[in-house]
Amino acid sequence: MSDTVKVIYGNKTYELPLVIGTEGEKAIDISRMRTETGLITLDYGYANTGSCYSSITFMDGEKGILRYRGIPVEQLAESSTFIETAYLLINGQLPNRAQLNRFSVLLNDHSLMHEDMRSFYEKYPRASHPMGILSSMVNALRSFYPELQSTEEEINITMTRLLSKVRTMAAMSYKISRGHKVVYPRPDLTYCANFLNMMFDTPVKPYRLDDELVEALNVFWILHADHEQNCSTSAVRVVGSGRVNLYAAISAGIAALWGPLHGGANQAVIEMLTHIKNDGGNIKPYIARARDKNDPFRLMGFGHRVYKTYDPRAKIMKEMCHRILDKLNLSDPLLDIAMELEAVALKDEFFIENNLYPNVDFYSGIALRAMGIPTNMFTVMFAIGRLPGWIAQWKESMDDPNWKLCRPRQIYTGQTKMDYIPLDER
Ligand code: ACO
Repeated sequence: MSDTVKVIYGNKTYELPLVIGTEGEKAIDISRMRTETGLITLDYGYANTGSCYSSITFMDGEKGILRYRGIPVEQLAESSTFIETAYLLINGQLPNRAQLNRFSVLLNDHSLMHEDMRSFYEKYPRASHPMGILSSMVNALRSFYPELQSTEEEINITMTRLLSKVRTMAAMSYKISRGHKVVYPRPDLTYCANFLNMMFDTPVKPYRLDDELVEALNVFWILHADHEQNCSTSAVRVVGSGRVNLYAAISAGIAALWGPLHGGANQAVIEMLTHIKNDGGNIKPYIARARDKNDPFRLMGFGHRVYKTYDPRAKIMKEMCHRILDKLNLSDPLLDIAMELEAVALKDEFFIENNLYPNVDFYSGIALRAMGIPTNMFTVMFAIGRLPGWIAQWKESMDDPNWKLCRPRQIYTGQTKMDYIPLDER
């Protein structure tokens, strides 16, 4: 096969390089296209645009494949822990025992939050959304902790600090929002166990850790840990490309994740399912609305920019919902509605034609509800899980000698040149 692509424009033919990834993905390298042809490309939503080379995550949306550093997400969900997966994403390989121990010690050492940050939390209006608070607080970390970004060891400390503190900050925001005493991280607990304990332990009712719930949280976070160049990861890379500090870049990622078309969908799904339940539980009008081109309603938790088949994470998440509910001897009417919606949608012409399958957010809220996580914290749970991916992608961009300031162009459609008219002549 030719390693160039010919572009015919006017009476000239230009040859642009063809680049091929390790999994056979092909792209036309247009870096020199404007210089050579005077043309730019136009691509709404960057749906056909590769923004970088990356060796972190591979996904094949047609086949439903997701791998972190080459390892299938199914295997990681089955056998790994969130912390080990975070190490894998950030460092490129699974840690040996000594490396994993060192990483755990660092996470523990950096798990406390500066006490002065508590006053920020306490001044936030009670009804604030936790994602807004988290985004601001992560940005504020830069004022409390110097950014260590020169040596490899310093970068590791900054990254570990973020991973550890964001978990503490998330649990703390929940406690403060409820007017409860803050629970500190404990050195004897693992990352996930610590989070559940910080969320649910109270002085009058000690929290009893359940191994299966801890395991479920590990899997939940592993499934969210990275997803190549999605909206929030691209936000981290774009904001980071201006060489801003890591905290600010991650804060931008959190803000991007908040939207209901992206990570905020996990909250939106539960709100939609609750609405259907309160409306009598009949799903038919909602399927009809989703199909109606004149109705902006969308079935939340369905569809994906890249997956044109069942999202592999949704499959694991659905099984997890059943496992947790069985274990806790609970039933959730929202799960019944979700499964009914899925069954109807998967046979419906509109959903088949548009390749609309459940995505990771469709079942994740039901799993989180069973763990006792309140609905407005769902997207925060997503953010904690995505943190290793954001960090790994930020680090990869900073280490890439070709990474440039991200600055797309446009096709201008406004008024052509006209003269200024003085105020009293208008
Ligand atoms: N319900 C009904 N129709 C849908 C849905 C849906 N959930 N998703 C897409 N469609 C329709 C669109 O209306 C569009 O129809 P049209 O071509 O007639 O206009 C067609 O399917 C293609 O959809 P696009 O919006 O062009 O596809 P895109 O790749 O831009 O959208 C997205 C992907 C934003 C995820 C979309 O499927 C959606 O809005 N889903 C619901 C929100 C959601 O679950 N988001 C979470 C995604 S996973 C994540 O980010 C973590």
